[in-house]
Amino acid sequence: MTDYTPADITPAELQPAGIAASIPEGWAIDQATDPAQITDWDDRQAVALIPFEVIGGYPRNPAGRTGKIGRNLRKWGENQAADPIVVTGTAPGRRVLLICRDDCGHWAIPGGMVDPGETAPAALIRELREETGVDLHDVEPVVLTRTYVDDPRNTDWAWITSTVALFQVPTPVDVAAGSDALDARWWPFDGIDQLRAAIHEADDQLYAPHEALLMQVPAPDPLSAP
Ligand code: BGC
Repeated sequence: MTDYTPADITPAELQPAGIAASIPEGWAIDQATDPAQITDWDDRQAVALIPFEVIGGYPRNPAGRTGKIGRNLRKWGENQAADPIVVTGTAPGRRVLLICRDDCGHWAIPGGMVDPGETAPAALIRELREETGVDLHDVEPVVLTRTYVDDPRNTDWAWITSTVALFQVPTPVDVAAGSDALDARWWPFDGIDQLRAAIHEADDQLYAPHEALLMQVPAPDPLSAP
């Protein structure tokens, strides 16, 4: 057997002293500083988007080994996000609404983490409103996938999954960046290559973990061109 020596990426604020000093009891963050202290794994496994195992008190990342342990997310095990992909147009010339993330400066889907007690559909609408000012509570989304997200914060013991849904709107509504967004705008989106190229041309980058999510959107229909 080859040696496996994963790195612990837990930031200071999620280590025991950091949690004791700065995370108030009752916040939606696991106070446990070791996954083996979690007592409700059965409940967490029952509501998981992607099934996962717990072995000897340690959750196992369903995507396999990451080379990392510890946690840089709110919870041990699965952390659920909701990612609303808003597009306008069904023909070539289609556009997609993205935000510029304030943590890395890359252009991403205006999604976020599902709050405790919140449903994924509610989180899709809330995150979109908070990050772009766009209110689509009266638009019926189409769930494209419920999937693992290849996020750099994932470890063997804590990872992100997401409910990814498509919202189709008739015109590019006005947007206003808010909460975790530095900017929000519509980008050309006949396909992932065109989107990536347009963002590069603006000297910016597409948020890598979201490429696979955006690729779930069906191609525009050339026959429906005006
Ligand atoms: C974002 C989500 C994203 C997830 C995984 C969260 O911080 O808000 O949009 O899917 O990270 O990258």
